[in-house]
Amino acid sequence: MSLPNTPLDVLIIGAGGREHAITRALLASPDCGRVYVAPGNGGTAIDALNVALAVNDGSAVAAFARQNGVRLVVVGPEEPLVKGVADAVRAEGIACFGPSAVAAQIEGSKRFAKQFMDAHSLPTAAWGYFNDSYSALEFLYQHEAPIVVKADGLAAGKGVTVATSLAEAEAAVKECLDGRFGEAGATVLIEEALSGPECSLLVFTDGQRILPMAPAQDHKRAGEGDTGPNTGGMGVYSPVPIVSEPEHARMLEIMEQAINGFISDGIDYRGVLYGGFMLTAEGPKLLEFNARFGDPETQVLLPRLNSDLLEVLYKAAVGDLGAMQLDWSSDWAVSVVLASAGYPGSYQTGHAISGIAAAEALPGITVYHAGTAIDEHSQLVTAGGRVLNVTAQAASFKAAQELAYQAVDKIDFSGKQYRRDIGSRALMGRAAWD
Ligand code: AMP
Ligand code: GLY
Repeated sequence: MSLPNTPLDVLIIGAGGREHAITRALLASPDCGRVYVAPGNGGTAIDALNVALAVNDGSAVAAFARQNGVRLVVVGPEEPLVKGVADAVRAEGIACFGPSAVAAQIEGSKRFAKQFMDAHSLPTAAWGYFNDSYSALEFLYQHEAPIVVKADGLAAGKGVTVATSLAEAEAAVKECLDGRFGEAGATVLIEEALSGPECSLLVFTDGQRILPMAPAQDHKRAGEGDTGPNTGGMGVYSPVPIVSEPEHARMLEIMEQAINGFISDGIDYRGVLYGGFMLTAEGPKLLEFNARFGDPETQVLLPRLNSDLLEVLYKAAVGDLGAMQLDWSSDWAVSVVLASAGYPGSYQTGHAISGIAAAEALPGITVYHAGTAIDEHSQLVTAGGRVLNVTAQAASFKAAQELAYQAVDKIDFSGKQYRRDIGSRALMGRAAWD
């Protein structure tokens, strides 16, 4: 293989299903040495080495990497990126897969992202931003519902209200400016509401060129039929059968244009750029960018990647993807999230988990750990809201969906809850979104 001085030791930052999927994919590389995960979960404790680190503290992460001979740091979540962890690691001369604090504003500030989209002619909803409620409400009442209100900064997925009346929008504006999201809500955005199916397109980039992944779609609502409260994601599939070829081509063009935008702004973006799209009647439009791999999107994207992930991440991190091409499996992948009863509200932890080995014995099944831990009796127990991601790969969408639910039935823990309809709307075709 083409990486110098291997085996290469890696440190992954994060604790979710996304990080377990990255861990598994890196360990499959012949050039991968030790994999440390900070703080990690029960799955990464089994497959790799968990380490306790202050993951938002760039100097702590960089010091650990230096002291342990780590040559690549891979950052999973957005918060350490926005706080400059990638900058601190690079300042030590260590390769880091993940954008700088300046580049990560594309996720950390919705105002920054919208200004970037406008400056580079990337299609998105019309919008305005405000720091005081008088001007926000004046703008709001010049428009009609539905209308979207967003906190500018990171609000753990809770900062967006798609308001169906101006009164609801007004309440959201006030809540935001009154400090519900702290500093993240000091600026509020008001946006035109778009409609259509949502679809994500993630790309690897070394700052110069992009290597696209396949489209993916997650299910954000807790309840079947896409009802109930928003969650971190209850299931996901890839590719997305309802995306047309022209829509796919347009999304790729937009992502390409985004990287060119960073280049012309003098921003060196290395990592994953995640485009969150809505497929509107006027074509795909951007809802948002994320500065990282999606969770749970990664749990269906990486198992379909035949290429060596370590080589991709290392080369992107050092700014040299060169002429590399990715080899993707033609399989379909569906992943079902097993959550704790009560999630996304309060839930219990510490329940024993059984049946993972039986599930993984089914050909095409991988079980990624999200909220799990190894307890003081060396037992695998639940430790979070989203506990496991059961990913199935098969030659057709339907077969993958059926296989995923066969595997789900083999796994047990007290309070296990999940959606039985992951991917069903995709199977019903485009009309199911209208
Ligand atoms: P965001 O964090 O910006 O992706 O917003 C979270 C969710 O809110 C998205 O996945 C959409 O379902 C919804 N959303 C955001 N912006 C809009 C918009 N302009 N029109 C309609 N829905 C939106
Ligand atoms: N699944 C959505 C996200 O990772 O932001």
